[in-house]
Amino acid sequence: MSKIVVEGGWPLEGVLKVQGAKNAALPLMAASILLGEGESLCLENIPYLKDVETMVEILSIIGLSVSLDGNKALISNSGVVNEEVPYELMRRMRGSVLILGPLLSKKGKVVLPMPGGCPIGSRPIDLHLKGFALMGAEISISHGYVEARTNGRLKGAKVYLDFPSVGATENIIMAAALAKGTTVIENAAREPEVNNLIDLLSKMGLDIGRDGDSTIVITGADGLRGASIPVIPDRIAAGTYLIAGVMSRGRVRVEKVNPSHMEALLAKLVESGVDTSYGEDWVEVCYSGRPKAVKLTTLPYPGFPTDLQAQMMALLSIAEGTSVINETIFENRFMHVSELRRMGAMIEIEGGSAIIKGVSSLTGAQVVATDLRAGAALVLAGLSAAGITVVSNAQHVDRGYESFVENLSALGARVRREEG
Ligand code: EPZ
Repeated sequence: MSKIVVEGGWPLEGVLKVQGAKNAALPLMAASILLGEGESLCLENIPYLKDVETMVEILSIIGLSVSLDGNKALISNSGVVNEEVPYELMRRMRGSVLILGPLLSKKGKVVLPMPGGCPIGSRPIDLHLKGFALMGAEISISHGYVEARTNGRLKGAKVYLDFPSVGATENIIMAAALAKGTTVIENAAREPEVNNLIDLLSKMGLDIGRDGDSTIVITGADGLRGASIPVIPDRIAAGTYLIAGVMSRGRVRVEKVNPSHMEALLAKLVESGVDTSYGEDWVEVCYSGRPKAVKLTTLPYPGFPTDLQAQMMALLSIAEGTSVINETIFENRFMHVSELRRMGAMIEIEGGSAIIKGVSSLTGAQVVATDLRAGAALVLAGLSAAGITVVSNAQHVDRGYESFVENLSALGARVRREEG
């Protein structure tokens, strides 16, 4: 088991180039299943993460040839496409569900174990399956496996998503890519990561585009050619490092980012009194006194991202005044609250809301990471706490953050990894 040991009280100072987005890299990699025989995808700015390694293993089992060279992935379709992937691999991460749509579209049949993921919620895939069924697939779930099959090609359909699910939007787009006819997805997710996928598929020759903010129109193709595209910057990793800069009372600039993808976070940092500035591809924060309490609600993009909720809670734990965080996306994403309390945070939970009474300082403690964002939040809390914080189960953090400990150390943090 991996641990991250943090000695608090050292301000972070400096510049960091931010990784490519995990939640864009995974769907882009899954789209390689749609490639015509002999065609290849070249994906740049791929982050070096455990979840990316898992997706490489999954695609290789399906029959694609994948080579990772630093932050570049070259994925080719040699013609063989197996539609069965072992449970052990599929259960490792939620992103594995993203092979359902392209496999169904390509092979007309897919049998996969129900996906795994973080303990932040039940993570159903009913919206994904509803879209596939509307496009003509027969769906059955038994013994923990989901089977979708269709006689001939999927057919274009009109799909209304009850919730603008990111994964359902991405899976239905990829199912529609080789379907016969036109698919319209209404109330589709607006996340930038979805747009990265739309841009790639368009480069691959697919007729796809947005009709307004929340409607996506796809006209199925007979086959898709190879293409290359960079993965967009990781707005969640960028936000995590900015919050680390504030909590450590330092000054941090993140580069290779897209500030227009981070407006909800930047607005909250400004509202809490953080000295925030930005340019075309960078954002900088400078500690300018104890942050003030704020109220925030997690929402689908462009609202405040649920993936930064735990990190903001760590910051608000030491803010002046009482803050409120409403988590509306996942039903169990407050597991970091009990760990922050061990560090002296004053937080009460009332249903989907957390009431955070800011304290002047946290104290170091032994804490446990429950998911990748909670783990990162606890490291951030340790940067500001008096004394030593030991975050165990830190392997969660490696799923979403490239060189997290090395990056923080390079900015001046006293942080190290301990294995075992
Ligand atoms: C993606 O998960 C991200 N993961 C998550 O990031 C992120 O938190 C989430 O979007 C929201 O932005 C990847 O992109 C790999 P959803 P996803 O479908 O697609 C419910 C991280 O930390 N729902 O938008 O699974 C679901 O239960 C991870 O990087 C259904 O009810 O999110 C949840 O309450 C965590 N039925 C809500 O919608 C469905 O069929 C949002 O889920 C699908 C989802």
